[in-house]
Amino acid sequence: MGWGDGREVDEVLEELRRYAADDLDESQGRSFGYAYQAGESAKRLGAQAYVQFLGKNGLDPTLFPSLLRLENELVGIVRHRLHGDADVVGSFTSGGTESVMLAVHAAIAHVRRHRSIAGTPEIVLPETAHAAFHKAADYFGATVRLVSVDPATLTADVEAMGAAINANTALLVGSAPSYPHGVIDPIPALAALAEERDLWLHVDACIGGWLLGYLAETDPTIPSFDFRLAGVRSISVDLHKYGYCPKGASVVLYRDQLLRRGQYFACASWPGYAVLNPTIQGSKSGGPLAAAWAVLQHIGDAGYRRLAREVRAATERIIAGIERTPGLRLLGDPRMSLVAFTADDLDLFELVDDLNERGWYVMAQLGSRCAPASAHLTVTPANASHAERFVAELQEVAADVARRPANPLLTMLHHAASGLDPSALDAATFNQMLELVGVRDGQLPTRMALVNHVLEALPTDAREAILLTFFSGAFRPRFEEA
Ligand SMILES: Cc1ncc(COP(=O)(O)O)c(C=O)c1O
Repeated sequence: MGWGDGREVDEVLEELRRYAADDLDESQGRSFGYAYQAGESAKRLGAQAYVQFLGKNGLDPTLFPSLLRLENELVGIVRHRLHGDADVVGSFTSGGTESVMLAVHAAIAHVRRHRSIAGTPEIVLPETAHAAFHKAADYFGATVRLVSVDPATLTADVEAMGAAINANTALLVGSAPSYPHGVIDPIPALAALAEERDLWLHVDACIGGWLLGYLAETDPTIPSFDFRLAGVRSISVDLHKYGYCPKGASVVLYRDQLLRRGQYFACASWPGYAVLNPTIQGSKSGGPLAAAWAVLQHIGDAGYRRLAREVRAATERIIAGIERTPGLRLLGDPRMSLVAFTADDLDLFELVDDLNERGWYVMAQLGSRCAPASAHLTVTPANASHAERFVAELQEVAADVARRPANPLLTMLHHAASGLDPSALDAATFNQMLELVGVRDGQLPTRMALVNHVLEALPTDAREAILLTFFSGAFRPRFEEA
């Protein structure tokens, strides 16, 4: 990249296209992660609405009343889908992480206003809950009480959650469903626990909130997870997942305005404009909001219902395919559209690499206290029509990997990694280690099995230290004179 006197529009756009050449291609329907799309017209409309509202600034909705109107209408639709009454309020946010962080912040503020707590506020969290809760705790100075999940179902253990409550508890969390295994926590029982102990239950329905309601219409095994349960005080729902809206679209809802209070921030004690930020951002483009509103209008209730059925039917085909593949084992009972499977007698990370090499994108998940390493699939309308082809290739790849002799380097690396203390590594040794697993000049190798095996062998704090060091190295400013 050179930078100097300015360049022609076409030239800049062409360069952007070249930069994107190695990106994950989400347009072919072969990606089981990161991308959620529901056809060309929704995609095009989202992009048009995004651009139309790009220059509007949500910092001050009194100057851009269209943004206030769009947000109130959009949050109103989400509230309706989640059976909230007229007291339920919410906000449009930039994504699941922001929605979760805001709910955690609001719950902590609520507890501080209404109870005296000694020490730091605590979040009682099933170990399968999204990392965004750990991030919120880290940012806002809370303590996470991590609670084991039921080892068979991988869902929250309500009794253990109850036992983890103490005088400092500010928040209980349940997921509908959890991201790693796509299983739904027993939200009705968690809501009853929260009600009984007069505590705040947040339901993280970031990934499922929009889809589950449609599936529940024909699947009575899907438990309630929304405001029909009295113990639920807040819910996060992402529209940039199963709402099929462009990225930057989520909603966080609260049972009433008082509960939302701790999310809002006002500042009149500086000499500039009076600040009232409902969410984390200050200035924010109206693009994501207008795009989300437009896509919701276009697909409509009937469209989302139809898409939900398509997605679930494809998920069932994939689940059946996994279940009949020797060496693969489904984790939990995924009732929605996220599926995780592990491998018993073959190298799972090699299998993920092989699939990715064939042009499928499948995510590798490292093993944790509650579950073995797994491959994760997010089924969407974009990949649903490829389900049969995917299953056929999955079976070929699994048979292939099962025949492959084990990599002798693995045992050695496993042994070396398990005794490793990353805080004791100097930069040179660390870089040598990265080179050994194929990471060079901040670039990941095309096959990740070795990297995944090393990470898998490490304790979680060591994994985190390594990932942070890698990312710190990758995000390094570059500048070239024109
Ligand atoms: C259950 C759950 N919560 C929170 C998030 C975080 O959402 P985002 O990536 O939009 O910040 C995700 C993302 O997959 C999720 O699945």
